[in-house]
Amino acid sequence: MKTLVIYSSKHGSSEEFAKIISEKINNCEITSVENVSEKNLCDYNHLVIGSSIYAGKFSKKFNNFIQENLKILLDKKLGVFVIGGIESQYLKTASSQLPESIINHACAVVYGGYKYDFNRMNFFEKFIVKIVSKTGKSIDALKPKNADALIASLNGEKNA
Ligand SMILES: Cc1cc2nc3c(=O)[nH]c(=O)nc-3n(C[C@H](O)[C@H](O)[C@H](O)COP(=O)(O)O)c2cc1C
Repeated sequence: MKTLVIYSSKHGSSEEFAKIISEKINNCEITSVENVSEKNLCDYNHLVIGSSIYAGKFSKKFNNFIQENLKILLDKKLGVFVIGGIESQYLKTASSQLPESIINHACAVVYGGYKYDFNRMNFFEKFIVKIVSKTGKSIDALKPKNADALIASLNGEKNA
């Protein structure tokens, strides 16, 4: 079994979550959505896709990748992860951003938590996050354990 993890990340936390997943799976490769054209998706049995949310949306590149590769994504065992500051909205965002067929086909759509890294934010982003989070401090709220649920589902384990 060969797995490819494809992530879209602006400030690195989705990349970090993707790495956590890839390091726990045997025979697994990882790529950003920007470099995914270097990979042949047909070479893989399992695909994992994930993006962070900004202003209620996944990145344009991530959404374009899904539209352009819908057929092959629906042909593979698929796991999805979502990175975002508002856990209660991750499924709603995934359902509104992703094609219904992807949501129905995925064996898991998991929440990976989030990070606020003030060192990597621009002025506008700092301003928004200070209001939303009511703090000017960086936060690491990634949920590495949720990677296990996604991997268990990919492996066909029940109740994952
Ligand atoms: C300007 C800005 C807008 C954001 N908007 C949302 C949002 O609408 N919903 C959400 O759940 N998280 C939101 N977040 C939180 C990010 O998804 C979170 O910081 C995530 O870890 C960033 O992922 P990345 O490091 O892979 O880019 C926002 C963060 C910033 C800086």
